[in-house]
Amino acid sequence: MTEGPNPLPFDSFMNPGLGKYSKAYKESIETPEKFYEGAAWILDWYSKWDSVLDKSNEPYYKWFVNGKLNVCYNAVDRHANGNRRNKAAYIWVDEKGNEKIVTYRGLYKRVNALARALREMGIRKGDRIAIYMPMIIEEPVAMLAAARIGAVFTLIFSGFGAEAIAERINDCGARLVITADGGYRRGKIVPLKESVDRALELTKTVETVIVVKHTGSEINVVEGRDYWYHDVVQDKELVEPERMDSNDPLFILYTSGTTGKPKGVVHGNGGYAVWIANTLKWAFDPQENDRWWCAADIGWITGHSYIVFAPLILGLTSILYEGSFDYPTPDQIWKLIAYYEADILYTSPTAIRALMKYGDEYPKSHNLSSLRVLGTVGEPINPVAWEWYYEKIGSSQCPIIDTYWQTETGGFVISPAIGIGVAPLKPGSATLPLPGIDPVIMDQDGKELPAGEKGFLVIRKPWPGLMIGLNNDDEKYRSMYFGKFKNMYFTGDYAIKDKDGYYWLLGRADEVLKVSGHRIGTIEVEDALLSTGIVAEAGVFGKPHQVKGESIVSFVVLKSGTTSESPVDTIKNGVRHNFGPILIPDEIHIVGSLPKTRSGKIMRRIIKAVYQDQIPGDITTLESGASVEEIKEAIEKFRKELKMANDQ
Ligand code: PRX
Repeated sequence: MTEGPNPLPFDSFMNPGLGKYSKAYKESIETPEKFYEGAAWILDWYSKWDSVLDKSNEPYYKWFVNGKLNVCYNAVDRHANGNRRNKAAYIWVDEKGNEKIVTYRGLYKRVNALARALREMGIRKGDRIAIYMPMIIEEPVAMLAAARIGAVFTLIFSGFGAEAIAERINDCGARLVITADGGYRRGKIVPLKESVDRALELTKTVETVIVVKHTGSEINVVEGRDYWYHDVVQDKELVEPERMDSNDPLFILYTSGTTGKPKGVVHGNGGYAVWIANTLKWAFDPQENDRWWCAADIGWITGHSYIVFAPLILGLTSILYEGSFDYPTPDQIWKLIAYYEADILYTSPTAIRALMKYGDEYPKSHNLSSLRVLGTVGEPINPVAWEWYYEKIGSSQCPIIDTYWQTETGGFVISPAIGIGVAPLKPGSATLPLPGIDPVIMDQDGKELPAGEKGFLVIRKPWPGLMIGLNNDDEKYRSMYFGKFKNMYFTGDYAIKDKDGYYWLLGRADEVLKVSGHRIGTIEVEDALLSTGIVAEAGVFGKPHQVKGESIVSFVVLKSGTTSESPVDTIKNGVRHNFGPILIPDEIHIVGSLPKTRSGKIMRRIIKAVYQDQIPGDITTLESGASVEEIKEAIEKFRKELKMANDQ
């Protein structure tokens, strides 16, 4: 195993020492109830919990049992009615440099107005609503308004298309959708309302659509169903926040797994809010007057937890950017950091690698001296990118906070924690577990592996940020996450723990890809390919990509009688139209047949092995449920297919 270069000396800018961390970690593991009792007071509660943790129905854990709170109150009201009332909650900016500053008091008024409108439209505690929006102020406002009245929201990333939207609405039974006429991406308008219109043809539960006028593009308005946002938020009367139980659901976020259908990860109110607010403090040590820039999309968990809820709970000022980092010019992100004097930047390794490719002169031509801390998330960061980020962006002055976590974990679980002590960093390692997190590396049989050996990353003890379940799928929640190793959380990732106790994440152990940090299921892409109407069979896998981490490779068999002159374009357009650009494969290879088991299962790993010319000696590891003969035959047949496809 390589561990990258030696740990870097950080004494110049901080005081190394793990004292506080070690104490907190020890307490969190030995006396968790006492530890969390303290951690929970980062929030205001209407009434205190009876017990910190109820494990009587494992693996359904209940945190802060019978505690009552409102997350919107904690994120907005207490600042809006206190000393931070005139402080900026968000500095919003777009690609053209348009800017909007919303103070905590302003946010409070906006959230109340929308909460009132939602109530008037009949939305009550426990109802589900969907949000499909560009990165504009109204997006966090919609999430907060839902949280205020106890409606459970599902926010759908704006890169998804109509069928993906419909799938999510149908799974959670959303009654109302909040969207916009469109959003901007690289100077072009993305017609969001149009996708919602098409999605609603495939759903039955939605009664009302609220549309923010953002781009000014023409939209189709369905009488009695569609309302302009600015028309419905006129009422200025305040709305009392709903007293939510700590274990009531706050939101559902769909994420890719090993099946075609995305899983609806449900997060609760109390445990989730306690976890994200504490982890942001522990990991990044944000200061009162910082400008925090979590440069993710709100459509993913990173945005939910660390653009919206955690920074607001802590009363921070966030930069909210609608646009691309390298548009209109490759130095856009550096320009914005210099202009807004961001103190902390939190982004993905893919973004860093893409920006690195443009060359050093772009960051060099801007004053980035406001930066104090840098962070990354979403995929392993290779030491080269880590060092570039550290040296060229942080001038070798800023620690790199490599946060490992997942949609299901709610917030960071393994990460440097400069708020509670400083261990030397190692480029490429997410370092040590945060307090409360008890990781272990296990082999297939549940045996703990020693330092230096690769295995599955498993977390032994529950923690408050852990999802409270999967929407409509108790069985999958149990079997996928707590079935492999009984009542221990299975992350689905490979990792190594080194001799110093540092964790090195090594990618997914399942059929999930990480493309530009986005989590994409291979079967999800196959379904999208089949939805185009001209594909009869599809096999999808990932291959390493220098910038994106992984790219999507697909092999397809066309339906007989397909007449399309350029089937690859037809397939790409079909995927874009139905499921959105995010699921379009980087490579589409057309072949006459795909290797399958006798029972008809496509042998995805054999396609990959033949394509990459990497057939292992022991081929039985390639495919379960198929005989050696079957596999050999499949390999030979597919080799011929590949040759024919290449010769064409
Ligand atoms: O494989 C791990 C990778 O991202 C997966 C979770 O993806 P998602 O639920 O979309 O959440 C992404 C944002 C939290 C994990 O199973 N991953 C996330 N962070 C890291 C990482 N891999 C290595 N290092 C990280 N810091």
